[in-house]
Amino acid sequence: MALKSDATQWGSLAKFFHWAVVLLILAQGVLGLVMVEMPKRPSTIPYYSFHKSLGITILALAVLRLAWRLFDARPREVAGMPHWQALGARLGHALLYVLIFAVPLSGWLFDSASSLRPLYWFDLVKLPSLTGGKDDAMRDVAGEAHELLFWVLILVAAGHAAAALVHHFHNRDETLARMLPWRARS
Ligand code: HEM
Ligand code: HEM
Repeated sequence: MALKSDATQWGSLAKFFHWAVVLLILAQGVLGLVMVEMPKRPSTIPYYSFHKSLGITILALAVLRLAWRLFDARPREVAGMPHWQALGARLGHALLYVLIFAVPLSGWLFDSASSLRPLYWFDLVKLPSLTGGKDDAMRDVAGEAHELLFWVLILVAAGHAAAALVHHFHNRDETLARMLPWRARS
């Protein structure tokens, strides 16, 4: 399997980034929603720490993915796709790229502005504060933004996934198949 995408197929690295980010965002979303319902006790701190580390991992994958995308041009749209649909897909993809940065960054900003504990990535790497200290106003805005942007991401991703399924089962074209990891390149 080639690492790079070509005119008709996504390469294995683009597929890896796509599906790793999908799976991690789903796990992270469930963890976030469950963890905020837990009573605020010292015993829940490890859930928060894990959520933050996983979130930073997603952010790092988003950075690597975008960097790779600058070298790895996407395949052409499948034949016969109307112009409005191609444009809609491009807009949706651009929005998803923005959101996979904005959601973790708003979480990081919230954490920095709360200034409770130093932020570590899995107890290994200490990360800087984005605010340089406690900032209650920023904490409120970033907290609201983190929750809201998460739901916007889920909404846009659901529309995006629905479009992929329509291509597969209704139009019966290659759009979804060529993004699937197990499909051998022809
Ligand atoms: C793509 C990555 C991320 C996703 C999908 C995500 C998702 C979520 C969700 C769904 C919640 C619950 C929101 C609510 O109902 O109030 C949440 C809360 C939270 N997230 Fe994230 N998160 C991500 C990254 C991060 C990062 C990188 C950090 C910090 C470094 C972080 C810190 C937090 C904190 C501290 C809360 C609790 C907020 C509160 O107490 O109100 N998140 N996250
Ligand atoms: C959190 C969820 C998701 C995010 C953030 C996401 C993000 C993206 C992005 C940014 C692209 C554009 C890639 C590029 O141009 O470099 C893309 C492409 C694609 N995604 Fe997703 N995606 C998600 C979920 C899904 C799901 C659940 C499916 C399938 C049911 C799916 C199917 C596809 C397909 C088939 C493409 C290629 C489209 C084409 O060739 O034009 N995605 N995705």
